[in-house]
Amino acid sequence: MTREAVSAEPPENELPFPLDMRMILAGWKLLFLREGTFRPDPTKDEVWNRGAYLAEGLGHCGACHTPRNLLGAERKGEAHFAGGEAEGWTAYALNEASPAPIPWDVDSLTHYLHGGWEARHGVARGPMAPVNSNLGTLPEADSRAIATYVVSLMGEPSSRTRERADALLREDEAHRPGALPASAGSQTAPVSADPGDRGAAIYAGACSSCHDAGRPLPYGGLRLDHSTAINGPTPANPIHVILNGIPAPEGERGPIMPGYDGALDDGQIADLLAYMRRTFSDRPPWDDPAELIATSRARGAQGQRSLGTGSDAPANPSKQDTSW
Ligand code: HEC
Ligand code: HEC
Repeated sequence: MTREAVSAEPPENELPFPLDMRMILAGWKLLFLREGTFRPDPTKDEVWNRGAYLAEGLGHCGACHTPRNLLGAERKGEAHFAGGEAEGWTAYALNEASPAPIPWDVDSLTHYLHGGWEARHGVARGPMAPVNSNLGTLPEADSRAIATYVVSLMGEPSSRTRERADALLREDEAHRPGALPASAGSQTAPVSADPGDRGAAIYAGACSSCHDAGRPLPYGGLRLDHSTAINGPTPANPIHVILNGIPAPEGERGPIMPGYDGALDDGQIADLLAYMRRTFSDRPPWDDPAELIATSRARGAQGQRSLGTGSDAPANPSKQDTSW
């Protein structure tokens, strides 16, 4: 009421061809739209069926986590939940191909879906953050049902994954806060033997103080050998996180990480990524990240947010550790 009135035309609908042709959409629906109500699987229990109903229906997890065919429809069969893409972020596989170094179980996945973070898997970012934010407003039983369904799709981890995860968890025990000397916050990463390794030097200087301090999540940084981001099929997500950091969610308490957009050039980020992949993962090197880094810089911090930490996070992070 305090502003001058203006006369403005609503913008034209700018759906690109061929999406602006109703007839073509009818054809697409004929091919890919399956109508009908959800049919429970009688061989599974009620919680699993509720999870399937929510994940496949309102949760539309597959919209991001299932790869699409040339016509933009979600692929079926083995491709179901096999990992997709959303707004330049990799939406990791949620089936047997899950790259999570610590396999998800129903408890950890419930915690992540409902609260937006999990102690051994990290904090949800990018387009996943609003999903968790919304799930957090539902009864926890719904997140648990979705977790039950999704974990069943992931299946039993291979013995190699299980062994590696057990070894990481044993190291966690040894490095639990309290098990460390008081100077733990300044502990440095396993720096590579090669003093000319620029990636190792950047990691030790810029990242290690938070990620190797053993400070509990969500406010501490995850040990990166636990991180799906470092073990995933593309470096897209760690690049977004390195450039833009993890900004505090609007009006809420949440984890933060500084962004390095202005501090590191493309070559330094590439070296840092190569070092982290080599050190914190047993997977083959990523392809040259130059293009992803350039696109991520161009996008800026748009869409980048984490979320509030829900009610089970410690009440006052500054009381735990103030070293950063
Ligand atoms: C709008 C796109 C989108 C939707 C919808 C979505 N996700 Fe995600 N999800 C992502 C992205 C992107 C990531 C990676 C986020 C990151 O790096 O923190 C992710 C990460 C995850 C992870 C962490 C995987 C790992 O190993 O670290 C889980 C688990 C997950 N999503 C489950 C779900 C479930 C269950 C649903 C449905 C209720 C869902 N997602 C819906 C985009 C989405
Ligand atoms: C001030 C502390 C701090 C510093 C410094 C910091 N981080 Fe983080 N980082 C965090 C926090 C907090 C999170 C959110 C919790 C989590 O998921 O690890 C995070 C998350 C991440 C993640 C996502 C991990 C996952 O899968 O959940 C990556 C990758 C990452 N940081 C890389 C880096 C790199 C590389 C550097 C150095 C260039 C760095 N961080 C410096 C605090 C920090």
